[in-house]
Amino acid sequence: MSAVLFDAAANVMPVVGADARSAGASEASSTGKPAAVAAGSIRFQAVEKIYVSSVGPVKALTDITIDVPAGSIFGIIGRSGAGKSSMLRTINRLERPTSGQVLVDGADISTFNEDQLVALRRRVGMIFQHFNLLSAKTVFANVALPLVVAGVPKQEVKERVAEVLKLVGLGGKENTYPSRLSGGQKQRVGIARALVSRPEILLCDEATSALDPETTLSILSLLKDINRRLGLTIVLITHEMSVIREICDHVLVLEAGRIAETGRVWEVFGNPRHEATRSLLKPLDRGLPEDLAGRLDSQWSGKPATALVEFTYTGVGGLQPDLGRLFAVLGDGTNIIQSNLDRIQGHVSGRLIVATAARSDLHHLIANPDLAHAARIIGYDATDV
Ligand SMILES: Nc1ncnc2c1ncn2[C@@H]1O[C@H](COP(=O)(O)OP(=O)(O)OP(=O)(O)O)[C@@H](O)[C@H]1O
Ligand SMILES: [Mg+2]
Repeated sequence: MSAVLFDAAANVMPVVGADARSAGASEASSTGKPAAVAAGSIRFQAVEKIYVSSVGPVKALTDITIDVPAGSIFGIIGRSGAGKSSMLRTINRLERPTSGQVLVDGADISTFNEDQLVALRRRVGMIFQHFNLLSAKTVFANVALPLVVAGVPKQEVKERVAEVLKLVGLGGKENTYPSRLSGGQKQRVGIARALVSRPEILLCDEATSALDPETTLSILSLLKDINRRLGLTIVLITHEMSVIREICDHVLVLEAGRIAETGRVWEVFGNPRHEATRSLLKPLDRGLPEDLAGRLDSQWSGKPATALVEFTYTGVGGLQPDLGRLFAVLGDGTNIIQSNLDRIQGHVSGRLIVATAARSDLHHLIANPDLAHAARIIGYDATDV
């Protein structure tokens, strides 16, 4: 439907009306940067951010060096105060790094003059947790605002607003006021407003945090759809790990302003190395059922008992829980007690807990790299599991 306005070529060679956006693009070449830098790429180079506040300097970001690939959905997670919003806001220069550089399409945005900054803000759209809509203006006027400010001709404004509203599923709502919209619809207006300038990057700061789970899912699938159809780079902050799992390609974990770890989502979620990541992922992990946890012995008495064995999968090398192999090794009478497995980007990771007869060579049997990436005996139950 939006092939004309939103094709990949338009994203690579900005053709926005009035254009400042092309000024930003020519900036990239005039600074002698390689012309091949893809539209929508972001590079953080040794970025540091120190706020000067009444209580003294606050170090929000330290030594942030990372590439956000063009066209990817890039998630940033971290505890409250870790520096997520500070990092995001350096991409459209709402915040300036104290030192280091942020490069958008290869151009150091700290060198931008006012005109280039206006152009940058058109290339980098943003949506917020609380939508930030003007309540006295209709949906049409809210979405049209960035174009009106840019001096885009009326007819073109009309066409482009109609197009983005259709894209976000709000066709026909032009004359409605925000107060008459649901939270999900308000966020769709926010997304439409961000897209109307045909950005190449979309920043989302907790964009689904004010929404119920079902609406969150619909907004996420809209963002994914936009990413795929428009080739837009999306940088997304969220406290909801399921959001990262659903739509992100890469994830960056921030801890106290530093990069704790980063990588493809399946890699980081399948084998979290940093304590901050493990703590953030806890809500996705169900603990051992309470009735069992309460009666496990750490040592085997040597009498008939059931051993609980946990197999861990990290997604590496295509190794998956092969039940035939597990039962062949552990024998009949082995039961699955709990499974906390997930498939992310085609890689299976998580834990599988089985109950099997306790025996003296069990440690040896389960230490088998064909079964799982790691295995351990959680404990022994003398009663029947
Ligand atoms: N304008 C400011 N002036 C002074 N300190 C600030 C300012 N903005 C943020 N900070 C501080 O910088 C640190 C990082 O804040 P930031 O808002 O980036 O964190 P965050 O990860 O987005 O947190 P949250 O998840 O709570 O939104 C915090 O210690 C915060 O108090
Ligand atoms: Mg924040």
